Amino acid sequence: MKGSVFRKKSIQDLIAATNGEKSLQRELGAFDLTLLGIGAIIGTGIFVLTGTGAVTAGPGLTVSFVVAALACLFAALSYAEFASSVPVSGSVYTFTYATMGELLAFIIGWDLILEYMLAVSAVSVGWSGYFQSFLSGLGIHLPVALTAAPGAVKGTFTIFNLPAFVIVLAITYLLYLGIRESKRVNNIMVILKVLVVLLFIAVAAVYVKPDNWQPFMPMGFGGVFSAAALVFFAFIGFDAVSSAAEETKNPGKDLPKGIIFSLLACTILYVTVSAIMTGVVPFAQFAGVDHPVSLVLQSAGQNWVAGIIDIGAVLGMTTVMLVMLYGQTRVMFAMSRDGLVPGSLSKVHPKHKTPYVATWFFGIMSALLGSLVPLDELAKLVNIGTLSAFVLISVAVIVLRKKQPDLPRAFKCPGVPVIPGLAILFCLFLIFNLGWVTIVRFLVWLLIGLAIYFLYSRKHSKLNQ
Ligand code: ALA
Repeated sequence: MKGSVFRKKSIQDLIAATNGEKSLQRELGAFDLTLLGIGAIIGTGIFVLTGTGAVTAGPGLTVSFVVAALACLFAALSYAEFASSVPVSGSVYTFTYATMGELLAFIIGWDLILEYMLAVSAVSVGWSGYFQSFLSGLGIHLPVALTAAPGAVKGTFTIFNLPAFVIVLAITYLLYLGIRESKRVNNIMVILKVLVVLLFIAVAAVYVKPDNWQPFMPMGFGGVFSAAALVFFAFIGFDAVSSAAEETKNPGKDLPKGIIFSLLACTILYVTVSAIMTGVVPFAQFAGVDHPVSLVLQSAGQNWVAGIIDIGAVLGMTTVMLVMLYGQTRVMFAMSRDGLVPGSLSKVHPKHKTPYVATWFFGIMSALLGSLVPLDELAKLVNIGTLSAFVLISVAVIVLRKKQPDLPRAFKCPGVPVIPGLAILFCLFLIFNLGWVTIVRFLVWLLIGLAIYFLYSRKHSKLNQ
């Protein structure tokens, strides 16, 4: 088994590694984890993508949200089982290493780079847009060349997205300072953004005209499913909770709670918000609108609330970037500790107890990508990277139940193999709804990953020693 690409780390070894010199500080409880999940979930998806979603699906957008939520919920139950039985940093990467072997684990870690790092860059661009509109409200205008990546705005000369760059570096610095500091900032911002969403619901619900919900699915199920593949982005992030396993006080109990509570809370909010949005404004009016939630309030004549929504969106996207970057650094930390990527990425800062090299490396990479590369199309890669991770985790739960039936599991996914089987079906279905261009790009990314595995990781793996 030593040289095989299917070699596995035993769950006992994985847990033992968490007590060595490269170990992190245990700071988080169930409440923090739920807020961490909500922090990663509510952001661009609801504040920006719902506009395109409404145009694609019509009022049936609510059904699109339910379909995407079901795919996530089925996968979340598998995440919860793993996180409670293998409470080790690295999320689905680590779980795959324990069950399906090194090569698949490496591939999944490679996919997670697409999910986390690219999501930070993509969200930083949305953040920059909202922030600039906030600044222009105060009469401050940045030089146009510094407002977007080269080629991002047709007919305008731009060279660098300065706000996107600065916000990602600020978040990186916070994560470098420590998990306790990051948790505090995250908790405050998440509470504020949830209040803003609730305010929207309370104010806008009064203006719903049920006539706007007719016809409910003007583009048929085709439209509803394409929109589901798109708004899936809105749910991404709950899985990042599982990467906090080594910083959780009582991972067996608290991780499943954090994952499932955050997802359920956001599902309820999203379905309500999308129903209200399409009930207030006829869906066709969302075409080309990148502030759809504020548009609803403006059209209801509630401009003052629209301003508050903009602030909520800025806060919302900030925590998404914070938690996603956090997840990225913890996955790389775990891969580095296992020898699959260079060892410096798992160096822990003596004072702050954070993986500081990984934090700065991926912080700077995300900042540069967001500020220099037009990311519109690449954002779909975030969805496909995540969906494939969900497929693998669901397969892994079924495999581990067969291979290690007696492993202590603080939380058990109900209905195995049916529920993980449904997760696999829903996720594959959404992958095919993303379109072939995205699938081909994803395959190219996988080929690059395979090359790195066979040229570097296989030789340097700790399992070789
Ligand atoms: N779910 C996150 C968002 O919508 C990625 O911004």
